[in-house]
Amino acid sequence: MDELLKIIDIKKYFPIQKGVLKKTIGYIRAVDGVDLVVKKNQVVGIVGESGCGKSTLARTILRFYTPDEGKIIFKGKDITRARESNLAFYRKRVQIVFQDPYSSLNPKLTIKSTLMDGIIQANIPKKERLNRIFELLEMVGLDREAANRYPHEFSGGQRQRICIARAISVNPELIVCDEPVSALDVSVQAQVINLLMELKRKMGLSLIFISHDLNLVGYFCDYVYVMYRGKVVESGETEKLFKTPSHPYTRLLLESIPSL
Ligand SMILES: Nc1ncnc2c1ncn2[C@@H]1O[C@H](COP(=O)(O)OP(=O)(O)O)[C@@H](O)[C@H]1O
Ligand SMILES: [Mg+2]
Repeated sequence: MDELLKIIDIKKYFPIQKGVLKKTIGYIRAVDGVDLVVKKNQVVGIVGESGCGKSTLARTILRFYTPDEGKIIFKGKDITRARESNLAFYRKRVQIVFQDPYSSLNPKLTIKSTLMDGIIQANIPKKERLNRIFELLEMVGLDREAANRYPHEFSGGQRQRICIARAISVNPELIVCDEPVSALDVSVQAQVINLLMELKRKMGLSLIFISHDLNLVGYFCDYVYVMYRGKVVESGETEKLFKTPSHPYTRLLLESIPSL
């Protein structure tokens, strides 16, 4: 398999500031030296308890943050410190789906307007744009009538489908899913995950799937990274990691799964 994304020894610290002068008295080491590889067509899981740095790592991979140290290599190209004006290609290739489908959609925009941005970015000619919107809605299992409606008219699961439609609208190669089903009812979690897996297969996507739930990750990820306090404490092919976990923290996570 080809290497799509390579993260080398990434660090992202947040200063802890005090007083009116905002003197820096220390740092939160949210991501503290992480190495990670995503191959083409691979589903990579990142698992760990709340606060261990998963979302910070995701935001750094997306280059919403510039890392303090380390390198981000995408298809052989170093984009660690690329300026926004040079990141346009990367922004199209790598997309994110956030945890909360309620806050990640603009309530004032129709679904059509929400999806239009990506469609324009993907250089779809004007007269084909509406059809492309219908196509995207169909791909995520929604009716074409959804186009003229507003986010509040949809359930959480449907909103997450809209967020997924927005993510795929630019024809990305990698989607980072940051706890994409944690805010959803258990009954719709599997549907959204199945949709992601189906799109992965159809579009030849790679996925990074972030979760605090090792059971979920074990279910469909090819490779898993276990994070603890900003570091990767263990990584490996899913089956192997589940069978023979070597780090005590991984064992702890596995033991806390009720039905394996
Ligand atoms: N923008 C920020 N400013 C300061 N501290 C932050 C910021 N974002 C996250 N943190 C801190 O970094 C650590 C990791 O957070 P986060 O990446 O959100 O973890 P996770 O997604 O695994 O729950 C936490 O201690 C959190 O409080
Ligand atoms: Mg998080």
